[in-house]
Amino acid sequence: MKVIGIETSCDETGVAIFDTHSGIVAETLYSQVAVHAEYGGVVPELASRDHIRKLVPLMREVFAKAGLNFGDIDGVAYTSGPGLIGALMVGASTGRALGMAWDVPTIGVHHMEGHLLAPLLEENAPQPPFVALLVSGGHTQLVEVLALGDYQLLGESVDDAAGEAFDKVAKMLDLDYPGGPHVARLAEQGQAGRFTFPRPMVDRPGLDMSFSGLKTAALYAVQDLQQASANGQLHEQDKADICLAFEQAVVDTLAIKCRRALEQAGHKTLVMAGGVSANQRLRSKLADATAKLGAKVYYPRPAYCTDNGAMIAFAGALRLQAGQADDLRLQIRPRWPLTELSAISTD
Ligand code: KG4
Ligand code: ZN
Repeated sequence: MKVIGIETSCDETGVAIFDTHSGIVAETLYSQVAVHAEYGGVVPELASRDHIRKLVPLMREVFAKAGLNFGDIDGVAYTSGPGLIGALMVGASTGRALGMAWDVPTIGVHHMEGHLLAPLLEENAPQPPFVALLVSGGHTQLVEVLALGDYQLLGESVDDAAGEAFDKVAKMLDLDYPGGPHVARLAEQGQAGRFTFPRPMVDRPGLDMSFSGLKTAALYAVQDLQQASANGQLHEQDKADICLAFEQAVVDTLAIKCRRALEQAGHKTLVMAGGVSANQRLRSKLADATAKLGAKVYYPRPAYCTDNGAMIAFAGALRLQAGQADDLRLQIRPRWPLTELSAISTD
C-alpha cells in the first residue's frame, strides 16, 4: 500500500510517500523559518498562506522524485491536529480533495502520534510496550505506549513545553527562531558552573514537569548581566554560559522524569521524539540514564525529530492498513488529546 502524507500543522510543509512494503519512497520539506524570522515566532495567518503556496508544488516534486503517478497512490494521510487551525485546514482540505479525486481513503493523523511513531521508521525499531518522551515546541509529555495507538499519559509539562522554553530563552539572547538549535550550538562554548538554574519539580513525586520558572531564572541572569554591562549588551561568552546552564537544567529535568517513568511503568525501552529530541546533550544524557537502568533509548534521525511529512505518511499508513479511514466529515482538531486515539490493530 502506498500512502502520501501531508504535514501542515505549524511552520513546515512536509510531503512524503510511504510504501508499506519498502518504507519511505520519497519526501520533501519546506521550512517557513524565513517567513516568520522577523517576528521571532510563528505568525499563524502567514503560515496558512505559505502552506497554500507551497503544498501543490511540493506534492508534484514528491511524485517526480518517487517516479510515481497519482494512480499509484492507495491512500492519503494528513495532519488533522493538534496545531494551528488555518494551517491544519490547508493540509486537511487538500488531502480530502485528493482522496475524492483519486477515489482512495483518507485519514486525519494526530501530529504527536506522527512524532511518537517516527522512531519506528528507523532500521532498529523499538517495539511496544515502551515509555515515550514527546518533546516538541508545543508539547512535553511522557506517554506509556502499551500497543500502537494505545497511549496513557504519565506526565506532562504544566506550563511551557521544553521546546517553547528553548525558543523563549533564545529570544532573550537575540538568537534566531526557532531557538533550540541555536541555544544548543552556543551551549557548546559555554563554561560549566558559572550559572546554575533550577531543575523544576524534580523533588516532587510524580511525572509532571514545569519549564516556565527555569525560563524566568534565565531571564533574571540576562537582566543582571545587562545591568552590569557598560553598553547593556551581553558578551558572546555570557550568552554561551547561559545557554549551557539552561540546556543542562532542561536535560537533567527530562532525564530524571524519564528514569522515574521507566521505573514506574516497569518498561525497559524509552523512545524519544519531537523537535527537542534532536538535542545532542539530551540524547547522550538519556543514553546514560537508561543504560544505568538496563534499559535502551531509541530516537529518530534528526530530520525525523522535527516536523516532516514522512512521519504522517507512516502513521496514516498504519491506520489505513488496519482498516481505519475518515468518514464524510471534514474534521480538524486544533486541540486533541493523544489519549483519545484508538489502538491500531495489526492483525
Ligand atoms: O516537533 P517540532 O519540529 O515542532 C512542533 O511540533 O512543535 O519541534 C520544534 C521545537 C522548537 O521549539 C525547536 O526550538 C526545538 O524543537 N528544537 C530543539 C532542537 N532542534 C529543534 N531544541 C533543542 N535542541 C535542538 N537541537
Ligand atoms: Zn511537531
